Amino acid sequence: MKKLARIYTLVLTFALTLLSLVGCAERNRTDQNADVDFSKKSDVLVVYFTWSGHLRSMAHWIADEVGADYARILRKEEYPVSYNETADVAKKEKDGNIYPEINLSLSDEEMKRYKTVFVGFPVWWYDVPMPVMTFLKQANLQGKNVYAFFSHEGSSDGAGSLLTLEKLMQAKGAAFDKKTALSVRGSKVKDSETVVRDWVKGLNIPKNEAVAVPSEITFPLGDDVSERFTGKVFFKNLIQKDSVYNFPITNHITFAPGARSSWHVHGGMEILVTGGKGIYQEEGKKAQIIRKGDVVHIPAGVKHWHGAAPDSWFSQIVIYDAEWKPEAGDAHSAHGAEPVTDEWYANLETEDYAGRTLTEKDAFMFGNGTLFPSENFSGNVYLGDVLNAKNEAGAPGIHNVVFDAGTYNNWHSHAGGQVLIVTDGIGYHQIEGQPLEILHPGDVALCPPGVKHWHGATAKTKFAHLAANANPDKPGVQWFDRLPLDEYNKLPTE
Ligand SMILES: Cc1cc2nc3c(=O)[nH]c(=O)nc-3n(C[C@H](O)[C@H](O)[C@H](O)COP(=O)(O)O)c2cc1C
Repeated sequence: MKKLARIYTLVLTFALTLLSLVGCAERNRTDQNADVDFSKKSDVLVVYFTWSGHLRSMAHWIADEVGADYARILRKEEYPVSYNETADVAKKEKDGNIYPEINLSLSDEEMKRYKTVFVGFPVWWYDVPMPVMTFLKQANLQGKNVYAFFSHEGSSDGAGSLLTLEKLMQAKGAAFDKKTALSVRGSKVKDSETVVRDWVKGLNIPKNEAVAVPSEITFPLGDDVSERFTGKVFFKNLIQKDSVYNFPITNHITFAPGARSSWHVHGGMEILVTGGKGIYQEEGKKAQIIRKGDVVHIPAGVKHWHGAAPDSWFSQIVIYDAEWKPEAGDAHSAHGAEPVTDEWYANLETEDYAGRTLTEKDAFMFGNGTLFPSENFSGNVYLGDVLNAKNEAGAPGIHNVVFDAGTYNNWHSHAGGQVLIVTDGIGYHQIEGQPLEILHPGDVALCPPGVKHWHGATAKTKFAHLAANANPDKPGVQWFDRLPLDEYNKLPTE
């Protein structure tokens, strides 16, 4: 066996040397760039590794075909530019079972939304390149459908790579079938766009797995919960009720055009519209057109439905009193079985929501706010009211806080703790003694009662969040010193 392996190695070394002589002698230096796009909010992810660029082309065709997110796996320490040296390093890695550090690490939370993962790689030393193994080892692939695509210069059946994947996927609880893998010879890749796209089509990944969401929807989609609605609907929990913050349950729901709930009743609810154009209708009333920045108050027990307009995506934060119980004998449950029929939906009488307070001048999700002079901020900050302390959901009052780029506040603590929901731009939140959090729209930052924190914009971007002082029976804020500017200026800005 050992002898056979040595012969193989010799043959491959010879083949690789030949390969290096026929034009692949050096990797193009510019090809070391990161290449990621997580903006599609699809439930398909394409990850790939490439050294000389073939896999990049294949990955892009696949991602484009299904509207998938994609990410290139890069070894933290670049492989050498020379082919032969790379072959040596790769061989040592493989023989030594060394998992090199890579640029890409997706948390369980980030992996959660993907149902399908495409993994692309060049065959290296008859196997999967070790940077790909690093990614696969650390990623949570439980329950995912995994498909492999690879290129080679002779190992057209993938040599040992597909068996390696099969074993690993089995161990990780992912579904993987070697027979579905796509193999393209490196030198043929440039003429293989149709072959690659046809392969993807042949996998019959349900078209609806690829969701192209317009840029006006800025919060992450979360889980597909369409089975409980008419049309395509996504759900993400933002805040669970707990005894630290005592904040009501808060979720974010995104509706594709035409998607909607059934008629239903539930506990008092506050709706904060985060994007697009939607419809809210109470029984016996005209349907209201609601838009980004609108806040709708729904008293407990009022029968209603909500959803997207026929021609627009729509998204909303819902804060509600989950403890409410229908009156005895009330026929309506929280998830009503009485759908809003196509006929009803097509013949709606609508009017613009009368409670709208935002104007065209408002650039931020919940308005531009009013300049709030304060020595506790490094620059200009603007405040606005979003939700009164007396509201249907039993939530504390909610404010909108807008920071100019470069503005951040002093370390401070809230006697009752604080809840932040990011609405615009990129910003920071840091709890004393804990790592910096970089925040984007849809992120929630929580600071427990009496604990020091600071928050604000990055130096480059404006930033806005909703803010609620939790446990309003314990008011009071204590202010301290500010993170020095030179330290702030060193923070990553994205
Ligand atoms: C380190 C190294 C090892 C390789 N080992 C093999 C191999 O075992 N079998 C094979 O057919 N091709 C092998 N190749 C060739 C690549 O798989 C092929 O050129 C591929 O198309 C490169 O894809 P890329 O441009 O995305 O990097 C190897 C290439 C390198 C750099």
